[in-house]
Amino acid sequence: MKFSTLAKANAAGSLPLLLSLAKSFATPLYRASFLVAALDKGVLQQLSGGARDADAIAEALGITGHRELLCAWLDLGVRLGELAVTDGRYRLASRRAKALARPRNDAVAAALEEVVRFHFPVLLNAPAMLQSGARLTMSDQDGSIIARSSRIVQPFLEEAVEGVLARTGPVRLLEIGCGSGIYVRHAASLNPELTAVAIDYQDEVAAEAAANLAQWGLADRVEVKRADARKVADTERFDLVTMHNNIYYFAAHERTELLAHMRSLLKPGGRLLLTSACKGGNLSTEVLGLWFEFADFGGPLPDTTELALQMKDAGFTDIQMRRLIPGEQFCSFVGRNPSSATAAEERLS
Ligand SMILES: C[S@@+](CC[C@H](N)C(=O)[O-])C[C@H]1O[C@@H](n2cnc3c(N)ncnc32)[C@H](O)[C@@H]1O
Repeated sequence: MKFSTLAKANAAGSLPLLLSLAKSFATPLYRASFLVAALDKGVLQQLSGGARDADAIAEALGITGHRELLCAWLDLGVRLGELAVTDGRYRLASRRAKALARPRNDAVAAALEEVVRFHFPVLLNAPAMLQSGARLTMSDQDGSIIARSSRIVQPFLEEAVEGVLARTGPVRLLEIGCGSGIYVRHAASLNPELTAVAIDYQDEVAAEAAANLAQWGLADRVEVKRADARKVADTERFDLVTMHNNIYYFAAHERTELLAHMRSLLKPGGRLLLTSACKGGNLSTEVLGLWFEFADFGGPLPDTTELALQMKDAGFTDIQMRRLIPGEQFCSFVGRNPSSATAAEERLS
């Protein structure tokens, strides 16, 4: 190459710009996409058991042809530094890939998948959606990935559940948007007399929760239903209603009515525990909020003051907001259903 050609490219400034973009954006994006695909298809998990050749990987994936294309994809994983290959046998190379393949890091793996599959698209498509009027729908997200990634905050939510649950005596719990069912399991482990109804809007999520709860030996204490929170009939009153990580599945203007409905499902003196990422937190939760703002069913992450006011307007008393994760806008809100209807009316007047 002539020196003058290099000088021309440099003078326009486009070559240095391209090199800097490749380093700061393209490579991390490629890495994240590769890792998500490899996790989703179980390739990292398979390789965590030892080196495998492409035939063994293809067999595990149920791929019958196109071995050369599978190798091309695996070789890019090598180029990205996530895999290594010796004598045609692939193995995990990066610390990241090894860590993500461990079952105990499943929530982090799911969070990475959530970023790539849901956060990137909303940032990428937001202006086009505004132009066309298109909106995201519930089917644009994968309920089981979300249920898994939500487990990142599990220890903090368990502490919030511990703060409101009586440890002895019969307790009836209603959990709204139960996801995998882990918080119902935690509540059941804290109080052996607790029984619960767990609902989720999405068929496959409710089915997964039912299977999990049965596997945890709780089928006789927890009834799982596919249901819409807005339509739960008030045929039964509960001691505790819990809503974890799902208030933003409801438009902001719907929330007071929803909360009032939740209150109508509580016994006098019963409590609502609501936990949520709120506005003003880390970048990932802000992008999550953007996703729900662009959804045809959801709304922004709640503002802490506004949500506490909505609870008050819904008739709750003794409302307490608490930050669950130091330095983060991840909060719990607890409100009580007044002991008599008159008390609620007084608060509302
Ligand atoms: C982010 S996930 C959280 C799952 C679980 N609570 C957790 O924290 O692991 C939110 C859940 O709320 C459910 N959901 C959304 N809208 C709902 C509605 N109207 N009624 C019942 N469940 C709903 C979704 O299907 C989803 O499983």
